[in-house]
Amino acid sequence: MEFGKVLVTGGAGFLGSQLVKKLLPRSEHIYIIDDLSTGNQNSIPKSEKITFYHESITNEELLEKILPEVEWIYHLACRNILLSVVDIEEDFQTNLYGGYLLLQKAKTHGLKLKRFIYTSTASVYGNASILPTPESHYEITLPYSASKFSMEHYCQVFYHMHNFPVTILRLSNVYGPGQLLSNPYCGVVAKFFDAAQKGEPIPIYGDGTQTRDFTFIEDTMDALLLAGHHVDALGQIYNVGTGIETNINQLAKMIIQITGSKADQIQYKPKRIIDKVYRRSLNINKIQEDLQWSPQFTLYKGLQETYKWLKEE
Ligand SMILES: NC(=O)c1ccc[n+]([C@@H]2O[C@H](COP(=O)([O-])OP(=O)(O)OC[C@H]3O[C@@H](n4cnc5c(N)ncnc54)[C@H](O)[C@@H]3O)[C@@H](O)[C@H]2O)c1
Repeated sequence: MEFGKVLVTGGAGFLGSQLVKKLLPRSEHIYIIDDLSTGNQNSIPKSEKITFYHESITNEELLEKILPEVEWIYHLACRNILLSVVDIEEDFQTNLYGGYLLLQKAKTHGLKLKRFIYTSTASVYGNASILPTPESHYEITLPYSASKFSMEHYCQVFYHMHNFPVTILRLSNVYGPGQLLSNPYCGVVAKFFDAAQKGEPIPIYGDGTQTRDFTFIEDTMDALLLAGHHVDALGQIYNVGTGIETNINQLAKMIIQITGSKADQIQYKPKRIIDKVYRRSLNINKIQEDLQWSPQFTLYKGLQETYKWLKEE
């Protein structure tokens, strides 16, 4: 798969930096816009083919300058779920207004644009009553879910009104190499590995029976690259997950086993305001049928790969 000139928003973040690594040998040039609010510039590979802008996606002048050149946009920049409950305004400004602005500017100035890929989230399912949850379901209870879901709608509006070439992927609990603890909002897998490696008790919010659908970074990257090219993906929304539920106690046990940690204790903590979801697994039939994408990594294998990377770091 070849990509020409690509814009990756949020390219210094966990997923963005891994995506840039994947795109580098396949692209002519990569522009990154990231305000480093949670991202880390050191995660971006060094290359003459990369231009990094330490800026917000709401910088209109910058968008107008870059977009005429760009053929692919991967829009990953976002404020995370934890922040969204503390500062709803900031969530709105980046996740909805910033995304809308990018769509609007890309429509006007992105005359060479071939595809706009938006990374949405399984958080739009809330506490889903149907499991594994298909794309048709939604339950919006947190600001983050509202802004991400609304941005999906604007993507679809642009597709239907202007034939704007969008594809939306709903990602679920991505983990793996590149997930940095320096991001205070990093996911549960990175936090558990950190505690296990230090021999400290594994911190769990609630009783640990809540489940999540964990997706390995390599599988997620394959889905992102495929979505950038596949003609059937135009105007579509796809779940990206495994369809498998794992509860948080099981996850902690796997990490203790893989690290050989002495941290045989779990420290149960009161639930946070964002801990509303009891069960999660995504129905991935649609992406399997349309794009022939399936996850290749079991959770155990993905965790082993993550640990290998952590030891090398
Ligand atoms: N990691 C997951 O498990 C997961 C799950 C579902 C969806 N997603 C989606 O994937 C995308 C990437 O998530 P991630 O895990 O890499 O998060 P991340 O926090 O590591 O990366 C987000 C990046 O966006 C940057 N950013 C934030 N606001 C910005 C702004 N206004 N302008 C420019 N840059 C800005 C941050 O500095 C950061 O580098 C997000 O859109 C997120 O909603 C991730």
